[in-house]
Amino acid sequence: MIISFVQTKGGTGKSTLALNSAFSKIFKEKFQSIALVELDPQGTLKKWWEERTEHSLAFHQISFHHISSTQREVLQDSVKTITNHNDLVILDVPGESTSKLHTKFACAVSDLVIIPMRTSTNDESAFSENLLPIIKELVRSYPIKKGIFYILPSFTNAQSNKEKVINYFREVLPDYVNCFDAMYPFRGIYENFNREGSTLLEYVESNQNNKRLFAVGQRALTDIDSITIEIYKKLSEKLNGNTEET
Ligand SMILES: Nc1ncnc2c1ncn2[C@@H]1O[C@H](COP(=O)(O)OP(=O)(O)OP(=O)(O)O)[C@@H](O)[C@H]1O
Ligand SMILES: [Mg+2]
Repeated sequence: MIISFVQTKGGTGKSTLALNSAFSKIFKEKFQSIALVELDPQGTLKKWWEERTEHSLAFHQISFHHISSTQREVLQDSVKTITNHNDLVILDVPGESTSKLHTKFACAVSDLVIIPMRTSTNDESAFSENLLPIIKELVRSYPIKKGIFYILPSFTNAQSNKEKVINYFREVLPDYVNCFDAMYPFRGIYENFNREGSTLLEYVESNQNNKRLFAVGQRALTDIDSITIEIYKKLSEKLNGNTEET
């Protein structure tokens, strides 16, 4: 199965979510082989993975792949090969301002597309102008794709009422884009966690003596758990053929 983190607006947490999902408890438990695939020519995750290798951190059942090509055929062939060898493929897609080649590709091949998005007028209009037309076109050509697009409210205030935020999105979204029953709150711990190639979990575990940091870390880990459980739930529904109709 293929999942992707997509948002044409930059800096909404796609890469951070992709890497921490790959190493999440539930994915490690449910999938024997997980491929974390970066489609971003910038190579944010590639650099992180290299640091990880330098520091001899464990990979468990996770492999990393960087596909920097901007040719659709190359993307297609590479992802197909990776998908044939792994139970779960996680695509980290660049926030693109021009051709949106990677975004279109990821939306077309994925079983589930997760769209981290802030509750701001700016982000909503950027979404309507850039990403929504791509989704609309795909759903028009392939109605089966209707149930695969999910907004993940991101960088929300940690104190925000989840139901309120989700209801807000459900009201403003068209019927072919859903909203996750989870949030990705803003947490200061994300500033430093990935130095030296670590995951959030490893960073939190190595800071057990710092009470404040450890407490914030636990909350951030709980966020990642809820998000990945929600992703797994949607994938299971899809596998069992009862994708939610909206
Ligand atoms: N939940 C969060 N709370 C606070 N900061 C976060 C959170 N998630 C990610 N960040 C920070 O926000 C910045 C952007 O995150 P990230 O690189 O994951 O976004 P992106 O969507 O992949 O960006 P791009 O579009 O450039 O690829 C990073 O500095 C990251 O550490
Ligand atoms: Mg990124």
